[in-house]
Amino acid sequence: MMAIFHTMAITIASLASCALAQDPACLVNGGFISTCAFPGLRFNETSLGMYCLNDMIHTYGYNWTWIDLDTCLTNNDGQLTPMTNGSYSGSCANCTVTFNSTVHIACDCENVAGQVAPTSIDLNSIVYNVDGTMGCCEQFGNKTWKGPQALT
Ligand SMILES: *[C@@H]1O[C@H](CO)[C@@H](O)[C@H](O)[C@H]1NC(C)=O
Ligand SMILES: *[C@@H]1O[C@H](CO)[C@@H](O)[C@H](O)[C@H]1NC(C)=O
Ligand SMILES: *[C@@H]1O[C@H](CO)[C@@H](O)[C@H](O)[C@H]1NC(C)=O
Ligand SMILES: *[C@@H]1O[C@H](CO)[C@@H](O)[C@H](O)[C@H]1NC(C)=O
Ligand SMILES: *[C@@H]1O[C@H](CO)[C@@H](O)[C@H](O)[C@H]1NC(C)=O
Ligand SMILES: *[C@@H]1O[C@H](CO)[C@@H](O)[C@H](O)[C@H]1NC(C)=O
Repeated sequence: MMAIFHTMAITIASLASCALAQDPACLVNGGFISTCAFPGLRFNETSLGMYCLNDMIHTYGYNWTWIDLDTCLTNNDGQLTPMTNGSYSGSCANCTVTFNSTVHIACDCENVAGQVAPTSIDLNSIVYNVDGTMGCCEQFGNKTWKGPQALT
C-alpha cells in the first residue's frame, strides 16, 4: 500500500513538473541583460525594476520598467519554476535578487513535504525587454520615463 502511494506521488509530482516545464508562454528565451541596466536594479516586494533600452536607437533611449515576478514564477515543489501567474511569493520567503554576469532571484521555498529549502533561478532565462518594457511568460510589466532613482 505504501509503495503504491509512493509511486502515485512520484507520478503526480513528475506530471506536475512536466506541465510546469512546458508552459509554452514561458519558453521565450529572455535575454534582458543585454539591453537593461541591471547594475541599477531595484527589487521591491515581488517586482524587479531597472532602466532598459527602448526602440529610439538613434537617441539611445531608455525607460524605467517594473515587472512583477509573481506573473511568471511559481514554487514547483520547492523549486522556482517559470509559469504564467505562478505567484511564487505565496509559498516562498527571504527572496533576494543579486547580479554578477547575470541576474538571479533566490528564495527559501516550501516543498510538498513541508520542508523549506533555498532555490534560485537565472532571470535572464525568462525576462525579456521589448521597447523599454520588461516582460516574461507573454506578460508585460510597465514603463515610465524615469525611475525611483534619478540618473546621474
Ligand atoms: C514598493 O512597493 C510598494 C507596494 O506595491 C509600494 O507602495 C512602494 O511605493 C514601492 N516602492 C517603490 C520604490 O517603487
Ligand atoms: C520612454 O522613454 C522615452 C525617451 O527615451 C520617452 O520619450 C517616453 O515618453 C518614455 N515612455 C514612457 C511611457 O514614459
Ligand atoms: C508598475 O508596476 C509595479 C508593479 O510591478 C507597480 O508597483 C507600479 O506602481 C506600477 N507603476 C505604474 C506607473 O503603473
Ligand atoms: C494572468 O493574469 C492576468 C492578470 O490577472 C490575466 O489577464 C491573464 O489572463 C492570466 N493568464 C493566465 C494564463 O492565467
Ligand atoms: C552568479 O551568482 C549566482 C547567484 O548567486 C551564482 O549561482 C553563480 O554561480 C554566480 N556566477 C558567477 C560567474 O559568479
Ligand atoms: C528566512 O530567513 C530567516 C533568517 O535566516 C530564517 O530564520 C527563516 O526561517 C527564513 N524563512 C523561511 C520561510 O525560510
